[in-house]
Amino acid sequence: MSRTRDLGHVIVTGGSSGIGLATARSLAERGAKVSLIARGRERLEAAAKELSAAARTADVADRTAVTRAVAELEEEQGEPCDILISSAGLARPGRFLELPDDVFRQMIDVDYFGTLHALRAVVPGMVERGRGSVVAVSSAAGLLGIYGYSAYGPAKFAVRGLMESLRAELTPCGVHVGVVFPPDVDTPQLAEENRWKPAETRAVGGTIKPIPAEQVAQAIVKGIDRRRFLICPDLGTRALSRFGSVLTPLLNREFDRRVRAVRKAGRKAGPNS
Ligand SMILES: NC(=O)c1ccc[n+]([C@@H]2O[C@H](COP(=O)([O-])OP(=O)(O)OC[C@H]3O[C@@H](n4cnc5c(N)ncnc54)[C@H](OP(=O)(O)O)[C@@H]3O)[C@@H](O)[C@H]2O)c1
Repeated sequence: MSRTRDLGHVIVTGGSSGIGLATARSLAERGAKVSLIARGRERLEAAAKELSAAARTADVADRTAVTRAVAELEEEQGEPCDILISSAGLARPGRFLELPDDVFRQMIDVDYFGTLHALRAVVPGMVERGRGSVVAVSSAAGLLGIYGYSAYGPAKFAVRGLMESLRAELTPCGVHVGVVFPPDVDTPQLAEENRWKPAETRAVGGTIKPIPAEQVAQAIVKGIDRRRFLICPDLGTRALSRFGSVLTPLLNREFDRRVRAVRKAGRKAGPNS
């Protein structure tokens, strides 16, 4: 991305950690005016200080709070939002039969509605001005159904569906729409997620090494620059996003084999293993 291009005002939800923070950092280095939204004050203030960014605490699941945070940040920065990165989110894996009901709702509230609320706060202004860019972080789990992701996966599929519709509606209005499909990324979220993964989910993931958040950030920045819809930070998600109907049955066959192997090993080891 050209360092001289005026990126304007960038708002990043989930900008205090992981992918959001790495993307905010990349955009700040390129001269953008950066604003951050997250819940926890301590991490948010540390990130804002590092990036000389403005910041507001808000839970993205709370529409009133997000709308207020966006309005206050636009006021403080003296400019409307030119680029929105919706990265706030959380993942809680677990077997369908063992997950508590509230987890299903929480994933939809934060991952899907959290994205929707932020979009609803900035898109009307972008359409009016005939420019802007909105990018939402989905997941590889938004491209195919994975063992252990019956709560998280549907929320990320919903983000993908939302962005597909928005691409069709907003492109003619001059607004760029992008959706990001990261694989496992080395962030605090992944560390937390790993605590909950069933053995079968671990086996499906295999020995694939998580990629750094900076790699996702680079893909996002490039995606914005080139006004790409699909933003895939690695080869696997790039192939899956383009050839999913061909690749998914093949992947499912291999993943089912791994799940069977884990279950067989569990039966051999006995009920107390
Ligand atoms: N890491 C991965 O392997 C991976 C893979 C695919 C997709 N993703 C997606 O990438 C996005 C970023 O994840 P990450 O790995 O960078 O996680 P992370 O390091 O844990 O960062 C998550 C950020 O979102 C904020 N956040 C979480 N819940 C929020 C809420 N309800 N309201 C406002 N802010 C909230 C967090 O701050 P507070 O907790 O202080 O609010 C933090 O700033 C998520 O949407 C995630 O689902 C991650």
